[in-house]
Amino acid sequence: MTAQLLDGVALGQQLRAGFKQRADQLAAQGTRPGLAVILVGEDAASQVYVRNKVNACAQAGIHSEKYVFAPDVAPQVVFDKIAELNADPKIHGILVQLPLPRHFDADAVLEAIAAQKDVDGFRAENVGALMQGQPCFIPCTPYGAMKFLESAGISVKGKEAVVVGRSNIVGKPMAMLLMHAGATVTVCHSQTKDLKAHCLRADILVAAIGRPKMITGDMVKPGAVVIDVGINRMADGKLCGDVDFESAREVASYITPVPGGVGPMTITMLLANTLESAERSASA
Ligand code: GUN
Repeated sequence: MTAQLLDGVALGQQLRAGFKQRADQLAAQGTRPGLAVILVGEDAASQVYVRNKVNACAQAGIHSEKYVFAPDVAPQVVFDKIAELNADPKIHGILVQLPLPRHFDADAVLEAIAAQKDVDGFRAENVGALMQGQPCFIPCTPYGAMKFLESAGISVKGKEAVVVGRSNIVGKPMAMLLMHAGATVTVCHSQTKDLKAHCLRADILVAAIGRPKMITGDMVKPGAVVIDVGINRMADGKLCGDVDFESAREVASYITPVPGGVGPMTITMLLANTLESAERSASA
């Protein structure tokens, strides 16, 4: 079997076409949706992600503002900017690109974002609401992964789902979303014994470890749906995921490629959350 591709560029474009209409409609009523993106430091990957987010906003009719700070900036400068953006009616979403430099308390920075503008869904309040099944905003990467399943008509109810990785940004919220959708969820991580045995039980396998090509075809159950959240740069400059695509695609029923899978969907769902925030603000 060769797996069908879950194409994040195509699905993203399809969804974003609808977003443009919603953004223009809101603007006609006096509320142009707005996103502020804060980048601290010079991490090359973060610079690319932020550029892609800002470009995606422009295409979707969403106003964006980018604030770039030097790696050694005093945290108070960033807190002051967040406070200013919290009070700015043109801004409906605030995103602080992670990781932050070591001298920052990342949790404190995320908590400084107003709850109604936390379009990443990273604040503790949002995380708690997600656990209760009532999130204000769903974190963009797991949200995008769920959209793949929904758009391909893949039923989650009663399935065995295995999430490899337990980060706050992906692994934990992904597990929660799959559980709410009716899957029986296992979360594996660096201390998991016999990772392969767990992966082989998965009808839906989500790889979010940050280790290039760690999940190989012999770890995939025949017919499984494989969602690869990893983006790793190889020595030759090429990008690859946490899944060994070539071997896994021969076993899986569906698989996301890297690049062109989860990455574009993360940005798409950021736009979705920003729009939703603007719509809430306009109808408040
Ligand atoms: N760094 C890696 N992924 C993300 C994300 O989804 N949001 C933010 N703010 N930073 C990230």
